[in-house]
Amino acid sequence: MDRRRFLQTSSLAGAAFAFTARPAWSATADSHVEILLDESVGTIAPEIYGQFTEHLGGVIYDGIWVGENSTVPNVGGIRKEIVDRMKQIHVPVVRWPGGCFADSYDWRDGVGPSKERPIRTNFWADDPDAQRLKGNAVQLYETNAFGTDEFMRFCHLSGAEPYLASNLRSLPAMEFSRWVEYCNSPEGSTTLAKHRAANGSPAPYDVKYWGVGNESWGCGGNFEPEEYAEEFRRFTTWVPHYGVPLSFIGSGPNDNNLEWTNSFFEALRRKNYMPRELHGWSVHYYTWNLSMGETTDWVAGKRDALEFDETGWYELFLQGLYMEEIVRAQWGLLGEFDPGRNIKLVVDEYGAWYKPGTQLDPTHMLGQQVTLRDALLTAMTLDIFNRHAEKVGMAACAQLVNCLNALFFSQEDKFITTPVFHVFDMYAAHQGAQSLRVNFSSPQVHYQRKGKATTLAGLLGSASMRGKTVTVTATNSDLKNPKLTEIVLRGSATIASAEASVLTDTDMHAHNTFAQPNAVQLKKLAVEAQGDRLTITLPPASVSRVTIQLA
Ligand code: AHR
Repeated sequence: MDRRRFLQTSSLAGAAFAFTARPAWSATADSHVEILLDESVGTIAPEIYGQFTEHLGGVIYDGIWVGENSTVPNVGGIRKEIVDRMKQIHVPVVRWPGGCFADSYDWRDGVGPSKERPIRTNFWADDPDAQRLKGNAVQLYETNAFGTDEFMRFCHLSGAEPYLASNLRSLPAMEFSRWVEYCNSPEGSTTLAKHRAANGSPAPYDVKYWGVGNESWGCGGNFEPEEYAEEFRRFTTWVPHYGVPLSFIGSGPNDNNLEWTNSFFEALRRKNYMPRELHGWSVHYYTWNLSMGETTDWVAGKRDALEFDETGWYELFLQGLYMEEIVRAQWGLLGEFDPGRNIKLVVDEYGAWYKPGTQLDPTHMLGQQVTLRDALLTAMTLDIFNRHAEKVGMAACAQLVNCLNALFFSQEDKFITTPVFHVFDMYAAHQGAQSLRVNFSSPQVHYQRKGKATTLAGLLGSASMRGKTVTVTATNSDLKNPKLTEIVLRGSATIASAEASVLTDTDMHAHNTFAQPNAVQLKKLAVEAQGDRLTITLPPASVSRVTIQLA
């Protein structure tokens, strides 16, 4: 995002603030948060807190699947610690099997007796990141040990809904409906239901969420939007329901490509075709170009996950906050084709993407270290989704384990959480709550970007309410200045009690390793509450959550 666009966004937020009645603020606080208890934006879909898993590097093999005979504690081959930690943060939905892998995957390869499953070349085998892998590594030659039934068990164990991404590039439409049949046809009904029973699950899986291709503008077929619309029609014209309320997710734009969205929906409109199951329009946005405008080259634009200076710290946020513009713009355009607002945005890939070199294990393709900086970016992104709760229906962080914006790292029996995990832990309280209108005002942060003074909002965040509990989350990206913040509740309410937790460190590069697994972890933060307001000092470089109980 360029600076001009960012300043526009912040001044719009400022304008909204100017029109609300000015509260009597404390004279000592430098930052203020006004929460409008009576103004709900909408329910925060729990699915916004989803995760993404792909047959890529160490995500499935070692990350999730260790095998039944492993010495790593497991439940039927699935790493026990990962499901325990996923339950802790209430992961609502998991997307699988890709990503780009999805459009090269034949679901039939991954069902039936494990020993009889074929070995296939993985989509990622020719990626430059695969070059350090040796021999017949499973990252190069997919064994299919983890398939549909294993994924369903993984979801069941972690308490998450499955979201399956279908292969639109290299399988016919028939195989999409047959995969639905395998998953959802009633016990004893079809031959595929009998296969499913023989593979351990007589009861149907009742999978609701189905992605119709992935990145169909790129690795999913390099289609033109009109061509994708044609394939989409072919794939979705007949899919059996078996009483399950199916939700299709169309392969939406890269970044903020409005042309892709417009041409796809125009093509559907020309055919007067809008399936009622189309509930999601996927958006992928990675924060990868930290070159500060030097290049738009996918490789040259990336920077290191661990080695960065103050400018690199702020630049990640400047680029990442473009997500808000994408959400607004794509939503605005969608409204022209879907005035009834049946279709929500599904941001099913997001996170920072750095250059290779900091992965914790050679098998972790696209693996990278995850620092406090990434925790702030993730928190800012989730706050955007919360603030736009009426627009964003689902999201998935890319990816769950041993990959880009990972929550976990594993290496055989070693398993650690990252700072991004702690953000999901703090933010889980927003799931299913009412997103509230909230005004943040705080001294801006300034940094030098290629010799030009550049500005970021001082504090960013979101607020939600469930019953008598109000949750406020906020990021202070300022590396030097704490923010003495007053939070005021508007609407007749009195605070009965309040508590807060924070993720921060004096080192902006702070991260967890197998040797120091708890270098970055949540801590308690002092809050002083009285009447309808509270004060709190938000440390520099921090993500905080304040939990307020109303009387
Ligand atoms: O998350 C890694 C890759 O990024 C996914 O496979 C693809 O969809 C995207 O380009």
